[in-house]
Amino acid sequence: MPKATVISLVNMKGGVGKTTVAVNLAAYLVREHGKRVLLIDLDPQSNTSLSLMPEAAWAAWARDHGTMADVFEVDAKRKRDHPVKLAECIVPNVVAGLDGLDLLPSHLQLTFLDLDLAARPARERILARKLAKVLDDYDIILCDCPPNLQTATQNALYASNWFLVPMQPDFLSSIGLGLLLDRLAYLKTELEFKIRCLGVVFSRVRRHVTFHQETMDRLPGEKAFKKLHFFPTVIPENISLSEAPMSGRPIALYAATAPGAEAFSALTREVVARLAGD
Ligand SMILES: Nc1ncnc2c1ncn2[C@@H]1O[C@H](COP(=O)(O)OP(=O)(O)OP(=O)(O)O)[C@@H](O)[C@H]1O
Ligand SMILES: [Mg+2]
Repeated sequence: MPKATVISLVNMKGGVGKTTVAVNLAAYLVREHGKRVLLIDLDPQSNTSLSLMPEAAWAAWARDHGTMADVFEVDAKRKRDHPVKLAECIVPNVVAGLDGLDLLPSHLQLTFLDLDLAARPARERILARKLAKVLDDYDIILCDCPPNLQTATQNALYASNWFLVPMQPDFLSSIGLGLLLDRLAYLKTELEFKIRCLGVVFSRVRRHVTFHQETMDRLPGEKAFKKLHFFPTVIPENISLSEAPMSGRPIALYAATAPGAEAFSALTREVVARLAGD
């Protein structure tokens, strides 16, 4: 079996839809394409984890099995009597009715990751090293990153073949896209990442907002972004997408006919086609 393709969802801007794209792309990869998918939550906010698990179940899993905080061995007090293996922290088939979607949950302790790992050599390579042992178990691994390019995100990028950028089509976000690509190019050189850009996904798009459409028309033609792939399918602002996490289910199971669901189904087809054409 081929090794998993690893994709990081990144944007320094917060609240642009990284987690929503990670969760729902993962779900459609499993549901409509029969992929075996691992979703890794690298954000201390733990939004991906809590979108798919009730809080009590997540807390129990963190206590009994472990989370990304244990994978990174961040807090000495949390250290177990034996080193925790990454595979032990994975919640198999995290959503009932969606076999094939596994989750590696996050923990609030990751807030202190940068401080805790400051003196650790090759600290940006920990995830890649530990992930190697489960690469054969999955077709695709998605890393949901926090809104920064610090240690957690650097670990995701180093372990990844691709990065995917969810962004809102507004003025400040389009400035942010340039800064993000600039910083990623710098990290790629300095830390010897072998990563490529899978593309930009416009998310939280409001059709009646004129500047959203203007931004989506303008950006692909700009010199700095000419080589970037912009996915033709965009994710609309859709209330069902923000309600679904309350039910602990992706939109595919929560509201399969909502506009947001149809968009994610189409986006997933485009992602699969782009990966197949590589
Ligand atoms: N397409 C959408 N339609 C409606 N609500 C959305 C959509 N995308 C995201 N949201 C909501 O907007 C908020 C931010 O989205 P999300 O958590 O996916 O962004 P993020 O980029 O992961 O944020 P952060 O940077 O904090 O991790 C959430 O409450 C989410 O439910
Ligand atoms: Mg998020």
